[in-house]
Amino acid sequence: MNTRTLPASDPQSLAEAAACLAAGGLVAVPTETVYGLAADAANGEAVARIFEAKGRPRFNPLISHVAATEDAQALVTLDAAALALAERFWPGPLTIVAPARPDARVHPLVSGGLPTLAVRMPQGVARDLVARLGRPLAAPSANRSGRVSPTTAEHVSRSLGGRIDLILDGGPTAFGLESTVIALEPAAVRLLRPGAISADDLAQASGLPVLRPEPGAALQSPGQMRSHYAPQGRVRLEAGHVEPGELLITFGRYRPEGVEDAAEIVDLSPAGDLREAAANLFAVLNEADRGDIERIAVAPIPRQGLGEAINDRLRRAAAPRD
Ligand code: TXA
Ligand code: MG
Repeated sequence: MNTRTLPASDPQSLAEAAACLAAGGLVAVPTETVYGLAADAANGEAVARIFEAKGRPRFNPLISHVAATEDAQALVTLDAAALALAERFWPGPLTIVAPARPDARVHPLVSGGLPTLAVRMPQGVARDLVARLGRPLAAPSANRSGRVSPTTAEHVSRSLGGRIDLILDGGPTAFGLESTVIALEPAAVRLLRPGAISADDLAQASGLPVLRPEPGAALQSPGQMRSHYAPQGRVRLEAGHVEPGELLITFGRYRPEGVEDAAEIVDLSPAGDLREAAANLFAVLNEADRGDIERIAVAPIPRQGLGEAINDRLRRAAAPRD
């Protein structure tokens, strides 16, 4: 298949993308978090093609992207606390998992057979595209399964070129990190995946405690596999020293012992800004995803705020692979 890339800023591109989606095609589209691989959520064959193109081993549930809160409410039942968070953070990088309505017009493959659905209202081009199509878009990140999420059209093309119909190029994404996935529990917010909105922000906006998944509990979000976001080279975390030939990923100008023997040094944010580090993370991992980089050392990154999501992605990038 010949994958075309079109500028997202051109209205004609949006029209073509919407037509492609209406015909059951796959379109990579920039969101404020990462590029998504979108299909018409009501079209089961198109949704199945997402899994095929990504090489996803299992039918993990997908996020349904909507253009308005009412469109989310046509898919799921949002309680008062969920609505308040939607009001505060939408459009934006918050995904809410909630009970699916029996009449929700998305194909069952989107929920992976679960009684719940994940919904979010993205910013910018992705939202325009949903509005244009007039139906929700199912979209995971636009990368081959288990690999690094794409933050530029170039990353998408390298990973999925030839496997999808169209890429809308909207430049580098703003957050560079996926959305935060939550579910509402009685009087609490359950964090299913840390992401671009920090747990502190959620606690503050909701006035509710934010609960992490209990260690050892069954996976509450099936996409939370241990090994994910993996570049080709081995990744070593909390590096207090560098071994000769390693690529060093560091933060805030920190230079571990042995840094002079590093093959390359990349600082996620010399100014020590976690937001900037989050925005750079996947671009750096994508850049490091090359045959000639065999070992990657990552210096300690602070854990507060967005640091939680950054460390979560790095842990998965470093996890044993099977
Ligand atoms: O920022 C993002 O969220 C990007 C952009 C494209 O929107 N999308 C994204 O999708 O990261 P994906 O498929 O890579 O991650 C979706 C996450 C997975 O961890 C999945 O398990 C979880 O959402 N999820 C989806 N539906 C769920 C459900 N019904 N219950 C629990 N978790 C769910
Ligand atoms: Mg993903």
